[in-house]
Amino acid sequence: MQDTFPPPTDVHAATTLKALRRSESRYRRLFEAAQDGILLLNADTAQIEDVNPYLVDMLGYSHAEFLGKKLWEVGPFADVAESKGVFAELQATGYVRYEDLPLRTKTGALIQVEFVSNTYDCEGIKVIQCNIRDITLRKQAERELGESKAHLHQLTIFLQRAREDDRAHFARELHDELGQNLTALRIDFNGLADSLASTDPAIGARLAAIDQMINCTVDATRLMCEELRPGMLDDFGFEAAIASYARNFTHQFGVPCDLLLDSEDYGLDDLLSTAIFRIVQESLTNIARHAHASHAMVALKDRGDDLLLTIADDGCGMPAELTGARKTYGMLGMRERVNMIGGHIAIDSAPGRGTHIEVSIPKSQQTTP
Ligand SMILES: Nc1ncnc2c1ncn2[C@@H]1O[C@H](COP(=O)(O)OP(=O)(O)OP(=O)(O)O)[C@@H](O)[C@H]1O
Ligand SMILES: [Mg+2]
Repeated sequence: MQDTFPPPTDVHAATTLKALRRSESRYRRLFEAAQDGILLLNADTAQIEDVNPYLVDMLGYSHAEFLGKKLWEVGPFADVAESKGVFAELQATGYVRYEDLPLRTKTGALIQVEFVSNTYDCEGIKVIQCNIRDITLRKQAERELGESKAHLHQLTIFLQRAREDDRAHFARELHDELGQNLTALRIDFNGLADSLASTDPAIGARLAAIDQMINCTVDATRLMCEELRPGMLDDFGFEAAIASYARNFTHQFGVPCDLLLDSEDYGLDDLLSTAIFRIVQESLTNIARHAHASHAMVALKDRGDDLLLTIADDGCGMPAELTGARKTYGMLGMRERVNMIGGHIAIDSAPGRGTHIEVSIPKSQQTTP
């Protein structure tokens, strides 16, 4: 580098000169080693005074091709139609920032950069410093991540629908085949039992036991069908199905469950009603299995643009590591369903404080593939 400082005339000047050289050397090292593109402009003439090696590499123009040109006379910036406008804005405000600016390199490739410029006074000369960061790879990664999330989202919807279809199909088969056969068996058996029971009291007792077993199997089959696909959901709609489920829950587990619905008809489509029903089902099952609660509550509130579903219990609660857990399948499935319908879930629970689950669900769904 050429020495631009005059020879020292006395000791004091020599010391000052040394300090200046040190400072210049430090600045040069920073400028040349920077991992961002840096461009220095004269704020009055708009001429480029310096560019660092990183910017030369990034844009493919040589140092000489930049130097002395006005900003809009060099390829990539000429591409930016409003370059002169940018310069005028810089002169006026001293600051310009673009989060995502497309620039074309000398080879014709289009890159995306973050562009930040500041104006400052350097010993009477106004200098504009532009910091240019290549964010092409980051933007591409963001795009790919977004696409991959969208694909996963669609896949989840597809899988959940397929699973619901399979469950409904299986419930029908179970009901139609096993359920009907059991009913026929019971009728035949009752006919036979009536005539056999009077012959021997010992046979009568065994027949009664068989009858009870058949009845238990019929009940178990009906329960399995309901668990697989609640018939009420299809036949009487979401509101009736959820009311019936809450009643059964109270009856089966002896835990009173308040159901607070602020509408008699939420007008939910199949995707939403099934998802909300399954979320309530999993939450109440968890309350029955883990909470040791004396009271449970399910509420659904229509807030206009969205619905607020709340499921709460006054049971033992759970530690923080479980409320955010994404490894246990019940909670994971619940989060996936919420995600599938574009909702948001918040679980508030702590040992001894019960559990409070809130799910907000947008009413207009953009999930259908
Ligand atoms: N309402 C609740 N009260 C207390 N603890 C709960 C409650 N809900 C969930 N938990 C705790 O969180 C854990 C995870 O629940 P999650 O539903 O994911 O799994 P699980 O019920 O154990 O099994 P499954 O996969 O059959 O649902 C439970 O094992 C339990 O310890
Ligand atoms: Mg569970």
